Amino acid sequence: MSKTLTHVVGRGHELLAERIRKGQLTVDLTSGNGYDTLMMYRLVGSSGQVIAFDIQPQALQITRQRLLDQGAVVRMRNVDQAPLELLPGVDLVEAGHETLKVFLPAAPQGIIANLGYLPGGDQQLVTRPESTLQALQQSCEWLAPEGRLAVVVYPGHPGGAEEGALVDNFFANLCEANFQVLQLKVVSRPQSPFLYVAEKRD
Ligand SMILES: C[S@@+](CC[C@H](N)C(=O)[O-])C[C@H]1O[C@@H](n2cnc3c(N)ncnc32)[C@H](O)[C@@H]1O
Repeated sequence: MSKTLTHVVGRGHELLAERIRKGQLTVDLTSGNGYDTLMMYRLVGSSGQVIAFDIQPQALQITRQRLLDQGAVVRMRNVDQAPLELLPGVDLVEAGHETLKVFLPAAPQGIIANLGYLPGGDQQLVTRPESTLQALQQSCEWLAPEGRLAVVVYPGHPGGAEEGALVDNFFANLCEANFQVLQLKVVSRPQSPFLYVAEKRD
């Protein structure tokens, strides 16, 4: 993990780690190259469960190999297996994260979403405002009490600013009685990724 002050992805990981313990259930809404899924797996350990979504089989295969290399039990899933069982290991789901609630077997303690496109992949296969919003709504609905949701937004690519504005609006309108919300932004670089972390009140 980078020690750079402005590395918001690393800050998101640290803030999730404050709340996630071994044996718990967590979710990665965008598995991509598998770094966030691996981070979640390290937090919950082999007795916990990580459910990771992606629409690209290529991304899920990269993630699978990364997790297998660390000794994780990995299961490949699709919509026919919904809802999933509460079971130690990593479930890699080939489906859009807007279907989150269909798959969840219980309330997750932590959820991460690194939006945008797969680094090194097809930039057309990018997260979209509409489905991102659905995934965030379901995440907040299902998150366990005192659980945290971390979202990294990339405003620099085509469509990223629109998605960022929608995410801004979503978190600005989360009920203060139910959620605490933090935003981290590099003020000197408006095109840089920025982070939201929401914690559900008990
Ligand atoms: C920035 S990458 C994720 C990075 C990843 N978390 C990591 O650690 O490497 C964004 C990913 O979101 C995926 N994606 C786009 N739309 C999606 C959707 N509706 N549901 C799930 N994943 C989606 C893309 O295929 C891409 O792999």
